[in-house]
Amino acid sequence: MSSAPILEVRDLTVDYQTSRGAARAADRLTFDVHRGEFLGVVGESGCGKSTMLFAVARLLSHPAGITGGSVLFHGENLLTMAERRLNVLRWRDFAVVMQSAMNALNPITTIRAQFSDALIAHGRRSKTENETRCAEVMRLVGIDPVHLGSYPHQLSGGMRQRAMIAMALLFTPDLIIMDEPTSALDVVAQRSLMAQIKELQRQLGFAVLFVTHDMSLVSHFSDRLMVMYAGQIVEVGDTRSAFDRPAHPYSRGLLNAFPSIHGPRVELLGIPGSPPDLAEPGHGCRFAPRCPEVMARCADQEPELYPIAGAHARCLRHEPATAGKELA
Ligand SMILES: Nc1ncnc2c1ncn2[C@@H]1O[C@H](COP(=O)(O)OP(=O)(O)O)[C@@H](O)[C@H]1O
Ligand SMILES: [Mg+2]
Repeated sequence: MSSAPILEVRDLTVDYQTSRGAARAADRLTFDVHRGEFLGVVGESGCGKSTMLFAVARLLSHPAGITGGSVLFHGENLLTMAERRLNVLRWRDFAVVMQSAMNALNPITTIRAQFSDALIAHGRRSKTENETRCAEVMRLVGIDPVHLGSYPHQLSGGMRQRAMIAMALLFTPDLIIMDEPTSALDVVAQRSLMAQIKELQRQLGFAVLFVTHDMSLVSHFSDRLMVMYAGQIVEVGDTRSAFDRPAHPYSRGLLNAFPSIHGPRVELLGIPGSPPDLAEPGHGCRFAPRCPEVMARCADQEPELYPIAGAHARCLRHEPATAGKELA
């Protein structure tokens, strides 16, 4: 995509303080999101996807702390800006949709009251205008506005997630950040919500930063894919090439993964084991202990993100010198 990026994440690093020292759940993450683009972020549970999203939206709290990097949104650093400015941009220019609307929505007020609070917080005071806008966004996500009078527990799981998306659309933001918004739903409801998100994106033109453990879920919807493993980006590139020619062995493993019916854990076919302890990731490639294509030097040489056709991959097999040697 050639348009200027609206989000520029540079060397974003997040540590959790644990009893065994710092666990680096986001390690020098660098990527862009372009206007109107759908960027899918995939990786097993525990790879740092939510940490990354929360850091980008400046929603992290103790014991997590941002220890480095910047997040430029339309050129302004979200990480250092005043709270006041952040509150102006949040909802209006970027919005966040969480994994569980049940946790994100207030259980003791109606949907209407929650939407109105957001509108009023941004200075929209006219009651009739606000009511009209609330009804509009409910219709946008395919919910009868009569449900503005409902409490979250009165809605089905799918409707609650769509109500969260409706709330994110109140101000037609440029960027919507979504953390596994469909993971609590059954497969049919998941697909229909994904189709709806994509259709809204087409109509309204916002960019999406979408996190999921299920690579197949985003395959039809993402312009680009970013694969995370153990707090690092291990592959990023356009979705087609990531699917047709995954460059990192971990991406190939994810492509063969079965999302567990019991929750967000995925089983990687042919790649047993689990991600490393982030408090002690060790030297070398973090995927080496599980990698079906491991080489001797993977154990102590840490790979960088190497450019390859249409993508970047953090695998020594793509190290320019290695590629040269193979050719020779
Ligand atoms: N509250 C916490 N305390 C300590 N470490 C945490 C906490 N939450 C997350 N982590 C660390 O961050 C890693 C990434 O977590 P998370 O961002 O939730 O991953 P994902 O969203 O990909 O499942 C975990 O594997 C763990 O090491
Ligand atoms: Mg998560």
